[in-house]
Amino acid sequence: MQKLSSRSLAPDFGMEISGIDFSKPLESDDINFIRNAWVKASGVLLFRGQDITPQDHVRLTSYFGGVYDKGATANPVLAHYYADGFPQIYRVSNKKINGKPLGREDAGTYWHSDSAWDPAQPRGSILHAIEIPSAGGDTMFANMYQAYDALSEPMKKMLDGLTAEHSLAAAVLRTSYAKEFSGKLDEASKKNAIWPVVRTHPYSGRKALFVNPGFTARILELSQTESDVVLELLFKHSTSPEFIYRHSWQLHDVLMWDNYCNMHYAVANYKAHGDRFLHRTTVLPD
Ligand code: SIN
Repeated sequence: MQKLSSRSLAPDFGMEISGIDFSKPLESDDINFIRNAWVKASGVLLFRGQDITPQDHVRLTSYFGGVYDKGATANPVLAHYYADGFPQIYRVSNKKINGKPLGREDAGTYWHSDSAWDPAQPRGSILHAIEIPSAGGDTMFANMYQAYDALSEPMKKMLDGLTAEHSLAAAVLRTSYAKEFSGKLDEASKKNAIWPVVRTHPYSGRKALFVNPGFTARILELSQTESDVVLELLFKHSTSPEFIYRHSWQLHDVLMWDNYCNMHYAVANYKAHGDRFLHRTTVLPD
């Protein structure tokens, strides 16, 4: 076992773990430590100084569940953002090489829980910072357990038992997906999932609010007007500063999050301050 230590990133939210080297295979004690920390830290874990290869990144991901692979499961419209020779590595970047985008620019520049429209929604993602701007380009995380816990009892009572539709079509209307899906709305309209508005996390057993501005189309049991108003209220509530951890990237940070209890938002304010290039893998449920 490597000698691991940890510190909180925000009150009851996020943990930085030190004393580990992801360029080597991990022993089972270390894997168990990180798995437990992922649950305890409400879904956000940070590891600094991890100068890892794509192979190391894929191996790391495999310790926490299945590894998403563009060949089997990725959205075909986004398939060209995966790294050559590494169908598990999705590239997020504003950089262009010979005029061709190196990765997806402006990925996630809105509050969302990744692939919430997918009935087999991935549990989380692991992001590795390969190039960062001198200022900006942070990623914000919302703790959706805290957002749920802070609701009044009458509001919790009303929401418990409701379900919402999450769809790619909603994302195409509201987010940077509009660019990629222009002329391919048929593709988008097929992708949707129904989730409880209050979702019990399978590993922690805790209740989290599960609606997000990017992908949540409507609350099914309410009228359209009621749904619009309630969703607006929940979006505003769950992005209150009290529930947010804002991550300012350092080179070779590795950061993982849990889609079942977090939303995240990539802040695209950095482009006058250099390039941003990250590799992302996606963790499927065990
Ligand atoms: C994403 O939503 O996966 C992108 C996150 C980021 O670029 O910070």
